[in-house]
Amino acid sequence: MVTGYHRPTKLIIDRQAIIDNVAGEVAKMPTDKELFAVVKANGYGHGAVETAKSALKGGAAGFCVALLDEGIELREAGITEPILILGVVEPIYIELLLKYNLSVTAATTAWLLEACKCLKRLTGSQKLKIHIKIDTGMGRLGFTSLKEVLDAVQLIENNEQIEWEGIFTHFSTADEIDTLYFEQQLKMFQDIISELPRQPRYIHSENSAAALWHPKSTGNMIRFGIAMYGLNPSGRSLIESYPLKSALTLETVLIQVKELQPGAGIGYGNTYTVAEKEWIGTIPIGYADGWLRKMQGFHVLVNGKKCEIVGRVCMDQCMIRLPEAVPEGTKVTLVGENQGAEITLQMVAEYLETIHYEVACTFSQRIPREYIGGL
Ligand SMILES: Cc1ncc(COP(=O)(O)O)c(C=O)c1O
Repeated sequence: MVTGYHRPTKLIIDRQAIIDNVAGEVAKMPTDKELFAVVKANGYGHGAVETAKSALKGGAAGFCVALLDEGIELREAGITEPILILGVVEPIYIELLLKYNLSVTAATTAWLLEACKCLKRLTGSQKLKIHIKIDTGMGRLGFTSLKEVLDAVQLIENNEQIEWEGIFTHFSTADEIDTLYFEQQLKMFQDIISELPRQPRYIHSENSAAALWHPKSTGNMIRFGIAMYGLNPSGRSLIESYPLKSALTLETVLIQVKELQPGAGIGYGNTYTVAEKEWIGTIPIGYADGWLRKMQGFHVLVNGKKCEIVGRVCMDQCMIRLPEAVPEGTKVTLVGENQGAEITLQMVAEYLETIHYEVACTFSQRIPREYIGGL
């Protein structure tokens, strides 16, 4: 997809906010615990490479991504720290994992056997770094019993082409007030860890929510995602244990402003009709940019004032009702601060009946990311 550099719509990413969020977490962790910054999905929409570099400056020791290609992107950008791929990589790509020195997740015995087969065909001395994933209750990826885990450990330890680098699990409710299910998952993880014949280099269970609210979870590494971007993993349910700073602002400008007469219709389907004389502004952002059609009826900020999005959001543009005549070229804030007023990603998420993770990831590549501060 082409990025619209020659259009005034942009995401502004504050690297200093990311540095501070990471540094804030590192400062409260014991010194023998490491923070891996989760920069999958293009750094949750913020841009993987720039956010990874910011996280490094804040004290991150490594990175997590979901896809092989995301790991390669970081390596090609010159990042040399450990990178763990959290998703399943088909064993046919093992040569690439070795070439780029990427650690990979083993979630099933079938995968491990296939990986061993593929490794047999290779000659070099480099070892494949593997983290065993335990499914303690997320129901997504991983071995589901102690026996399966011990068999996997044995398979790995018997293969000279594999380095057993880590073991981990993922919590499904660490961001909730009720901790019962979380505790069950934690206990299962702890029980399995205590039965291992030896401990690998990395033992990890904490995502942002667990790091913020359950810092005594088992492990010597955390996988710090959403909080590094300055967003509260729980939405509004739990209070952050230290202040997080949101890194993302979304801005554009008014490209057309006109006064319309009563009865004039706005947008496809004519779903909004001008009641009295109204100033209507057009802004160059639409659903192809990730500013979804469901945003109709929400608002943006112009000169610190809320302006309703009227009519249907189009593919490349949408219209807003202005309180008065405002010059074309005036800044419009869709996410962020504007003259003392603010729209947060959480507010957008609530309007869309989703979570801020999804909103940030939905901003498309058409919107350029501009980086400020920090490096
Ligand atoms: C396995 C795994 N670990 C860690 C994370 C980071 O989670 P969060 O962004 O909530 O910190 C994710 C994110 O989805 C994940 O899938």
